[in-house]
Amino acid sequence: MTIPTITFNDGYKMPMFGLGTYMSKSGEVREAVKYAIEIGYRHFDTAAFYENEREIGNAIREKIDDGSVTREDIFITTKLWCNSHKENEVVPACKESLRNLGFDYVDLYLIHWPFAFKSGDKFTPKDASGKVEFQDTDYLETWRGMEECKRQNLARSIGISNFNSEQIDRLMLSANIKPVNNQIEVSLNLNQKHLIEVCKKYGITVTGFSPLGRPENSRINNLWDRPEIKVLCEKYKKTPANIACRFIFQMDVTPIPKSVTKSRIKENLDIFDFSLSDKEVKIIEGMETNTRVALLADAKEAKYYPF
Ligand SMILES: NC(=O)c1ccc[n+]([C@@H]2O[C@H](COP(=O)([O-])OP(=O)(O)OC[C@H]3O[C@@H](n4cnc5c(N)ncnc54)[C@H](OP(=O)(O)O)[C@@H]3O)[C@@H](O)[C@H]2O)c1
Repeated sequence: MTIPTITFNDGYKMPMFGLGTYMSKSGEVREAVKYAIEIGYRHFDTAAFYENEREIGNAIREKIDDGSVTREDIFITTKLWCNSHKENEVVPACKESLRNLGFDYVDLYLIHWPFAFKSGDKFTPKDASGKVEFQDTDYLETWRGMEECKRQNLARSIGISNFNSEQIDRLMLSANIKPVNNQIEVSLNLNQKHLIEVCKKYGITVTGFSPLGRPENSRINNLWDRPEIKVLCEKYKKTPANIACRFIFQMDVTPIPKSVTKSRIKENLDIFDFSLSDKEVKIIEGMETNTRVALLADAKEAKYYPF
């Protein structure tokens, strides 16, 4: 099966469905990525913070080496972590991710969050009392480092993640190279209609993370059991995960559900042979609870915390 693509404002294309890998553990993620490639996934989402770039790179290379795919067939996103936000730290951080992945470019490099932690080796630096140590580095400075990654062809495209609309407005005023993508939480609980519109206005595509609302989180999972969703599952012979990802896709947003379970990796991709009606979309929109799973609450005190 061929996954539809979306074209960035810099001309590169991104497959509009990907495999998330946050918390995909060592020993699991390699098989998950290889299986995903075998059944048609071409887009993989990782981050320095996930500490699994090396295993994901190895898995992709195995599928390149056995002739299943070429590097050009695969779209890899990785992300700059908050401890490397100073302009001169960005290129070295990107090179470190490339070394881990074992490739000479990534397709998309994102600023993972708009705020900064204290620079250094620790992902989450903490003081003696256990409080996270922040730094006020402006994301406009970080963006200049991201632009340098694109200039040096370390990243084909560059973008942002977890930026709110004011932060996007401000970035657009100073960027020499426009971001191509904002990766934000989008789910049945949080449909992000307004922020998606803001991104569209600027020609920024949107990737939807936690599209399943991390169903192990029981508070969120409740929506999947609601009669409105059950009716749609029966009508289309699909699962709640399919309804959620299809709803997201119909907003021109790229869902990246995470799974390391083969049956779910296969199930989740099964969204390209049906379409929700406008009326059904409205019903789903009406179920929104405005709750997030990705708050990074430890960072609430940080300058530039987005929520
Ligand atoms: N930019 C950011 O700040 C940010 C933040 C969060 C996430 N992300 C990205 O977005 C990806 C997806 O988000 P997420 O991992 O937070 O949450 P998610 O994809 O909404 O949910 C993942 C969870 O759902 C389970 N699952 C997968 N398919 C299922 C199905 N069909 N039925 C029932 N359960 C299912 C998975 O379990 P198994 O793996 O055990 O199958 C896993 O526990 C991440 O992996 C990451 O790549 C980015």
